[in-house]
Amino acid sequence: MNMRFFLRTHLLAILATSACGDTSEDGDETSDGTGVETTAADSTGGGETTAADSTGGETTGGDSTGADSTGGVDPRAYYDGEASAALGAAGNQSRCSTCHSDDGTATGYSGHTFQNIAYKDNYKGGAADLLGGVNACVTGWMAGEALTAESPEYLGLVEFMQSISDPAETTPNPIMPEVLADEAAYEAAYGGGDATAGAALFTTACGGCHGGALVVGSVAAPGAPMVSMATAGRIAQQVRTSGPPPSGMSDAMDTTPGPMPFFELDELSQQELADIIAFIKAPA
Ligand code: HEC
Ligand code: HEC
Repeated sequence: MNMRFFLRTHLLAILATSACGDTSEDGDETSDGTGVETTAADSTGGGETTAADSTGGETTGGDSTGADSTGGVDPRAYYDGEASAALGAAGNQSRCSTCHSDDGTATGYSGHTFQNIAYKDNYKGGAADLLGGVNACVTGWMAGEALTAESPEYLGLVEFMQSISDPAETTPNPIMPEVLADEAAYEAAYGGGDATAGAALFTTACGGCHGGALVVGSVAAPGAPMVSMATAGRIAQQVRTSGPPPSGMSDAMDTTPGPMPFFELDELSQQELADIIAFIKAPA
C-alpha cells in the first residue's frame, strides 16, 4: 500500500513536471472531490469548497487558459474560485487561496501573503516580474500551463493583487526554506511541541490538503492517517523543504518544487511547527 502510494505519486510528479499538466492519470482521481470538505471549516478557501460550489458546466482542464474570454467572470474567481483550480492540470483541486489563504492576507499558509505582493522588484526563483512569480506556482505546484501577460486570467489575478498592494512596497520577500543537515537534525529541532495548540494550527496549515486528499497539480495529498505514520523528523523536513533531497527544494531556488509546497519560518514559526508535529504524533 505504502509502496504503491509512493510509486503512484512519484510517477505523477514526474508526469506533472515533464508533461506540463497533460497527464492521462486524471481518471483515478475523480472520486477525490467527495472527500475534500471533511476538515477545516476555516482552513482554506481553496480546499474544502472545491466540490461543493462547482456550479456545473465547469471545465477543469489546464487548457482553459485564454481559450474563452473572461466575459463576466469575477476576477477574484481566478484567486479562490473554480476558475483558479482550472488554471492547473486537469483534475487539480488546489487554488491560489489553498496556499495563500482565503483572502490573500493571512499568514500560517505555505505561500506568502499577497498583501503588497504586486509591486516587488523581483520574485521567487529569481523571476524578474510578477508574471514569473505567478507562473512559478501555476506551472509548478498546480502543474498547469504558463499564463501570458495579456491573458484574462492573469489580468484578473493582477487586478486582485494590486487591490491589496501598496506601490511603494518594492522590497522582495526573502525566500528562505529552512534546510537542515538531515532528518535527525529536524527531529532534534522540532521536539517538545504542544499537541493541543497544534490541533488548530494543523487545521489551518495542513487540513485543507491532508484532510480530504486534495489533488495538488496532479498529485493527491496523502490522507491524515498516512501523514501521522511519518516520523517527526520526516514531517518537519517535508514541511520545510517540500520533501527530502533530491526534491526540487534541495537547491533552495524552488524552480522545480515537489508536489507539496514548503512553509518558511515567516509563515509557520519553529514553535508552531513543533506544536503541529506534537499533534500529529500524539496517541489518538
Ligand atoms: C500548492 C500551493 C500553492 C498554490 C496552489 C499557489 N501558490 Fe503561490 N506560492 C506558494 C509558495 C509556497 C510560495 C512561497 C515560496 C516560494 O516562493 O516558492 C508562493 C509564492 C508565490 C508568489 C511569489 C511570492 C514572492 O514573494 O516572490 C506569487 C506571486 C504567487 N505565489 C502567486 C500565486 C498565484 C497567483 C497562484 C494561483 C494562480 C498561486 N500562487 C498558487 C504556494 C502556492
Ligand atoms: C497545498 C496542499 C498541501 C498542504 C497545505 C500541506 N501538504 Fe503535505 N503533502 C501534500 C502533497 C501533495 C503531498 C504528497 C507529496 C509527494 O507525493 O511527494 C504531501 C505529503 C506530505 C507528507 C509526506 C507523507 C508521507 O507519506 O511520507 C507529510 C509528512 C506532510 N505532507 C505533512 C504536511 C503538514 C504537517 C502540513 C501542514 C504544516 C502539510 N503537509 C501541508 C500537500 C499539502
